[in-house]
Amino acid sequence: CGIVGYIGTQPASGILLEGLRKLEYRGYDSAGIATLFEGKIDCVRAKGKLHNLQTKLVGHDYPGWIGIGHTRWATHGKPEEHNAHPHLDMSRRVAVVQNGIIENYRELREDLKQKGYEFVTETDTEVIPNLVANQLDQMQANCELEQYLSPFTEAVRRAVHQLEGSFAVALICTDYPDEIVIARQESAPLVIGFGQGEFFCASDIPAILPHTQAVVTLETGEMATLTPLGVSVYDFEGTRLRKHPYLLSGVSTATEKHGFRHFMLKEIYEQPGVVRTCLDHYLNLDWVTDRSTNPINLGLPVGLYTNLEQVQIIACGTSWHASLIGKYLIEQLAGIPAQVQYASEFRYAPPPLTPNTLTIGVTQSGETADTISALNMEKQRRADLDDRFQPRLLGITNRMQSTLARLVDYAIDMHAGIEIGVAATKSFTAQLMAFYGLALDLAYRRQTLSIDRLEQIILQLRQLPGQIEAILETQEKQIEELAHEFSETQDFIFIGRGINFPIALEGALKLKEISYIHAEGYPAGEMKHGPIALLDEKVPVVAIAMPGSVYEKVLSNAQEAKARDARLIGVTPVNDPHATEIFDDVLTVPDVEELLSPILAVVPLQLLSYHIAAHRGLDVDQPRNLAKSVTVE
Ligand code: G6P
Repeated sequence: CGIVGYIGTQPASGILLEGLRKLEYRGYDSAGIATLFEGKIDCVRAKGKLHNLQTKLVGHDYPGWIGIGHTRWATHGKPEEHNAHPHLDMSRRVAVVQNGIIENYRELREDLKQKGYEFVTETDTEVIPNLVANQLDQMQANCELEQYLSPFTEAVRRAVHQLEGSFAVALICTDYPDEIVIARQESAPLVIGFGQGEFFCASDIPAILPHTQAVVTLETGEMATLTPLGVSVYDFEGTRLRKHPYLLSGVSTATEKHGFRHFMLKEIYEQPGVVRTCLDHYLNLDWVTDRSTNPINLGLPVGLYTNLEQVQIIACGTSWHASLIGKYLIEQLAGIPAQVQYASEFRYAPPPLTPNTLTIGVTQSGETADTISALNMEKQRRADLDDRFQPRLLGITNRMQSTLARLVDYAIDMHAGIEIGVAATKSFTAQLMAFYGLALDLAYRRQTLSIDRLEQIILQLRQLPGQIEAILETQEKQIEELAHEFSETQDFIFIGRGINFPIALEGALKLKEISYIHAEGYPAGEMKHGPIALLDEKVPVVAIAMPGSVYEKVLSNAQEAKARDARLIGVTPVNDPHATEIFDDVLTVPDVEELLSPILAVVPLQLLSYHIAAHRGLDVDQPRNLAKSVTVE
């Protein structure tokens, strides 16, 4: 979910709506705003995308110059209008927007019900305005209101103490029409923007960037009061904190389709450029003339790698798939054992601590709550241990201003540019590039590869942009036509082995995400141990068959599928007559060494999913039930 707030001299509703547009990547099930004018809160909410809210606002005048807004990814309660934020207490005195989960909301709600409070939604959030209203009533009854500069802030502070979970909140109150109070606990991010006589708060920087570049980031356990005169920051004990705004630079929010029908297609086409940019940043040009220098330049210090015994990678979704390829590269090129963990699993069953371990958090957005929480936990559980067990945290992210980037010791910038399509494409390719860079950097420093071999790999990396361009130029039309043949298909199987097994997973995930077709990715050799029972002429099988150590094996596994009447689609290089005999359809990619093949093999699969979904008339860029970045655990 995304939250935004404004206090200043302009009508708040337009600014809130614009801010929400920039946060829609965090969820788009429903949206709403609440503004305050002449002692009354106006709250407008709508189910579905932001434009539904916008339509509802047309023709209405909401003159308040203070307000809060929210775009939701449903956790507790269906994405219906009545569950949409902002939520108000029963006397419509306090309104709140929340990003996160209030874990103890059931107990709090029961307690409040016994005190006479009524609830109208299924959400966890509704307890918050009622708790705050209750605190204000208690303070009034005890004649405490005069003791505080801002009784509203104090009431929120007391309420926040009762809340368990990870959350960010913004609140307004009719009794205090010149104040927005915000608070952050754990991983839900919150930034404050400082304008001229106006102040902003939001879950992410792009929402406030059009108005100001001066920001303060709220850390966990901090809260703030925004008034037209300024901002005061406190800890949860009520102690005033001194925080100085810093200036943002180099954050781009350019979001144009440039003639493409969807952002996803545009982003698929941006991949050659992204790979080139990554090469420009990761490869050391001096190496061309001076072979005694490191060919890789990631800006990482020696200390991060010293005595390295283990690598553990933590990620979710597509980033998890990229991490599986990262593990392969780190193990095969640098000879270091590597584990890949789902962030959501890691936190609640962390593996036993190993010494001299590099922990890598991989997240495009840098805001995925599961990944942030897992890394925080790893940092904390290692903090008091001896040197060998000290945390070494590295991030791979597309957002160098994100929560992840601030949490880790060092971060590799993915240089993918802003990605709008919810289904990750160019960011996946960029993550693979970061892993090639990292694995080669490690291999060079540990001397696990000869200079000749390094040279060979780097030369091939340099060919990738042109090879991706070739796929886009020669394959898209054919893939589009092929996609039309799957209008009625309900299930797909993707198989691959070795370094391309994660590509089978990614191909299946892309299809699921945007076309809603059931799809599974399997290691090709595992198919015979169960999934083969699913096969018949209605279930197409996509085999990633790239020449190399497992090529013949994948072809055999593909034959097994064909013998069960499955329609066989192969992703394979052009010039293998043997392969073209086996496959009913071939998605050709240029000849490439197995080690580099995932970056090429994924492109036809992205195009296939895209065209199947577009042909079905689905919302490719904002598929149902998903969010670009899931900011709740
Ligand atoms: C969401 C998105 C996925 C993405 C995952 C991880 O679930 O829908 O496309 O792969 O989050 O995102 P991250 O920003 O951490 O890479």
